[in-house]
Amino acid sequence: EVRPIAVQGAMDMEVAYFLKQMGEYKTETFGSYQFYSGTIEGVPVVVSKTNIGMVNAAASTTLLIEKYHPKAIINQGTAGGHDPALHQFDIVVGAKAINYSWIESPHRDAGAGIDTGSWKVMPKPLEPDPELYKTAMSLADQYKHGKVVSGVIGTSDAWNKEIDRINQLHNTLGTSAEEMETASVADVARTFNVPFLGIRVLSNSELYGEDFAPVSSDYCSEFVIEVIKKIESGV
Ligand code: 5AD
Repeated sequence: EVRPIAVQGAMDMEVAYFLKQMGEYKTETFGSYQFYSGTIEGVPVVVSKTNIGMVNAAASTTLLIEKYHPKAIINQGTAGGHDPALHQFDIVVGAKAINYSWIESPHRDAGAGIDTGSWKVMPKPLEPDPELYKTAMSLADQYKHGKVVSGVIGTSDAWNKEIDRINQLHNTLGTSAEEMETASVADVARTFNVPFLGIRVLSNSELYGEDFAPVSSDYCSEFVIEVIKKIESGV
């Protein structure tokens, strides 16, 4: 059995570049989740459209693992900047992913207000497969649309546009960027012992008024293809 490398994107625009590179592929649908099997430059891949959000990411990752037995899963796509050192088109290779929406708040009396800064984020950050992570970082210099950095990917079913909230998450959890799938996929991949890595491009940064740029997802996919080629070559 040839075990493919799985590449995930939540939205059509986040899988489109891979499909273009595959040329021919087989499409299978389970529930609302699409899987596209083929090769990219000779590398067997299954491209998975997870749909948006943590529930969809978890459900489709479970199907992906059970039906395609991937030897590795790369979750990739767009994200919003949290780190002031990063701008639109920079790429974050996930040294950690954290579900920052799983929280416990300390008791406060009625009328005492809401203080998101006192909320304790419960899960431990999830770590990537060290080999996949190293491979991606080794290719950082090849990316021409911005810089490639190691960082923390913050996941929740939220799109934050309050600068104070973004700064709070960055200052307390060290988040480099936010999105809605990575930690969910990392959690499921860990359950099944499948090597995992998250790679996210900043499509937008509220910190700098940089609005969502769809072309960023192609830039990210381009870089991810370099990563899967290097994984497959085993060097
Ligand atoms: N905040 C949250 N999700 C974002 N995404 C891109 N930018 C952001 C952001 N600033 C991604 C999510 C989701 C879709 C809405 O876009 O991962 O799939």
